[in-house]
Amino acid sequence: MISTNVDRARPAAAPAEDGYVPHPPSGAERVLGSTSSLLNTTDRLLSLICMEKQIMVGGTRGLCIRRTCAKVDDLWKNYVNDGSFHTEMGTLISPKAVQQYGESGDLERLVERVKLDVRSLATSPFRKSDKGLEGPTLLTAYSPDAFSGVMESYVMKWTNWSEICGNALYKAFGNCFSDGFCGFLAPDATGHDLEKGVRQTVEADLEEIAPDDLEALRENFGAIPSAINPDMQLHGEQIMLSERISGENLFDFAKTKYADLSDGQKNKFFSRLGRLAMLDLMMGNHDRLLGVDFDDGKYTLDTREANLGNAMIVEAEAGPVVHAIDNAINTDLIHDDEKNRAYLAFLAELFSDEKAFETMVEKMCGSLTSATNDVMLNDYKNWKEISDQLKPFREDLNSEAAKAAILHGFKKMEHLLCHQLIPAWNGPAGESLKEKLSNIYPELTPAISERLQLFLAVRSNAGAFSINEAI
Ligand SMILES: Nc1ncnc2c1ncn2[C@@H]1O[C@H](COP(=O)(O)OP(=O)(O)OP(=O)(O)O)[C@@H](O)[C@H]1O
Ligand SMILES: [Mg+2]
Repeated sequence: MISTNVDRARPAAAPAEDGYVPHPPSGAERVLGSTSSLLNTTDRLLSLICMEKQIMVGGTRGLCIRRTCAKVDDLWKNYVNDGSFHTEMGTLISPKAVQQYGESGDLERLVERVKLDVRSLATSPFRKSDKGLEGPTLLTAYSPDAFSGVMESYVMKWTNWSEICGNALYKAFGNCFSDGFCGFLAPDATGHDLEKGVRQTVEADLEEIAPDDLEALRENFGAIPSAINPDMQLHGEQIMLSERISGENLFDFAKTKYADLSDGQKNKFFSRLGRLAMLDLMMGNHDRLLGVDFDDGKYTLDTREANLGNAMIVEAEAGPVVHAIDNAINTDLIHDDEKNRAYLAFLAELFSDEKAFETMVEKMCGSLTSATNDVMLNDYKNWKEISDQLKPFREDLNSEAAKAAILHGFKKMEHLLCHQLIPAWNGPAGESLKEKLSNIYPELTPAISERLQLFLAVRSNAGAFSINEAI
């Protein structure tokens, strides 16, 4: 273990980021709340997916909806009590729901419900992300029941504990262990291991799933991907549910919103991206803003294209708010001793260099440029148009203002790490999180700790940076 500095006195906390407005409730509260409410909502999602498959044939969405409602009216008008009505309704909504209304004798209400459900399919209840290669990542939005106008929206992704626990770490660091705002956020999320029968709550506690709920969840999570597409490949053994952030990913934001930002907002934006990139380096997330390559036994910074799908950006007067998503942590650095040692050596060498941050700025601008240049866009049919839309963002990556703002972000994160985040990680709040995560992924937090302590040891003079510096 590298020497630590855990006993150093904690200076006054950095002031919270000015002008930050938290985003409103995302509509994922029920999904994230308990297994029984999750069950209800996945029942409904499954039912809407099946209904959508059943009715969206041979015409536009509007036509299919009108045709199905007319058919339901017709069936109801010609109702005879021979079971055929129930069978027909059972093809549209789940037979369980049909039975429920049949038993109470309230068939008129059943007809009303089916028509409302059909109409709610004016927009699809889910969209499979076409950006990601893993997952699948399903972006859902639908009303929790036929009679309410509220929308429930969340993200369902087949992934692994490295991402689920990684998300919990980013969330804790992003909100300074509930003590402020570091310049970026991560979504509230839960994780489910249906093999082991356990669930990680939004607070990162590990809970057993009750046997009845487990059986029903296995059924729903087994049925949802195949109801969408029988050939759908699942790339993860655990299921993560997270709030759906109501902005655009960095790629779409750069295309459609970036050009309208004021100079001050641009500065905030780049500084916040810089802070996230710096934490990525500590966490071992090499697939977002800063490229890191492993070659010939050594890690190096690289300018390979950034993954602009792994950050969501929400517009705000005080500067765009950055949300870190897809927070998977490189598991090689955790399970492969040799790579872990090589990575620690890489960090030690990088941060011992006076010019470390300047180098990182150049590499990060290089990676962002690679992700937005014509070679990368070539896969899109309308690549020329996209390239034009990205031009203001791409050109600014070469500007001194953007580079200075990213540098500011690195310095600010360095300050936060040394004076607020690593002390919190080493203190009660961090201990509590480490204990929770060790229940499901015991090797994860010791590996992260080692990198953080190394950073603290190497950058012990970080306090020289004034956090009041402009931006
Ligand atoms: N919590 C969220 N809120 C809103 N949109 C999201 C969220 N999570 C994912 N998305 C959308 O889905 C896209 C793909 O998500 P994600 O990066 O998690 O998938 P992936 O398959 O792991 O991608 P990768 O190609 O990086 O492996 C994102 O770029 C974003 O547009
Ligand atoms: Mg991704």
